Amino acid sequence: MTAGRDDPRLHAAGPLEAGVVAALQQACFPDDPWDVASVAALIGPPGGFAALALRGEEPVGFVMTRVAAEDAEILAIGVLPAGRRSGVGRRLVEAALSGSRHLGATALFLEVAEDNDAARALYKACGFFSVGRRPGYYRRRDGRVAALVLRHDLAPALPEQGG
Ligand SMILES: CC(C)(COP(=O)(O)OP(=O)(O)OC[C@H]1O[C@@H](n2cnc3c(N)ncnc32)[C@H](O)[C@@H]1OP(=O)(O)O)[C@@H](O)C(=O)NCCC(=O)NCCS
Repeated sequence: MTAGRDDPRLHAAGPLEAGVVAALQQACFPDDPWDVASVAALIGPPGGFAALALRGEEPVGFVMTRVAAEDAEILAIGVLPAGRRSGVGRRLVEAALSGSRHLGATALFLEVAEDNDAARALYKACGFFSVGRRPGYYRRRDGRVAALVLRHDLAPALPEQGG
């Protein structure tokens, strides 16, 4: 079976793919671009991992996650504007959830701007719930906006089943 347009392929990304991840981050967050060296440091071991979403050979989205002991955090997630609303973001969140679980985390956290309706809807659809609010956390051209801290509990990874 071949993958259709609505069926992105996920690809694990490490420091060698930092340039691609950084280009996606910069396209999705033009007001807060991260350089390649910063991205490489964040997605490297120990604890850092990333995934790319590909349509054909074209990267269309990314997620960067870090795990420290039992807590994991999504550092950044984005989908190129032309690829949005076709399930890519949800697939990337699922990759962050399963990767964090496999690294031993029991909860995945993230921060989202209170005015980011698309991201808040995505996280709600993926089962995150609010555990905190940081007033004035993000800078906007016309002022500041609060961050919501969201959490998703992680069930322990199941042991591999033998044949
Ligand atoms: C947030 C973002 C990653 C979502 O990616 P996406 O690929 O469009 O999301 P999906 O198509 O997987 O959406 C899954 C669900 O999330 C919700 N959702 C996503 N975008 C939405 C929007 N613009 N409006 C309302 N609901 C939305 C819907 O419930 C959707 O399911 P549905 O399409 O069946 O209704 C994308 O909008 C993005 O890259 N934004 C810019 C960067 C950003 O803000 N990142 C998050 C920072 S915390």
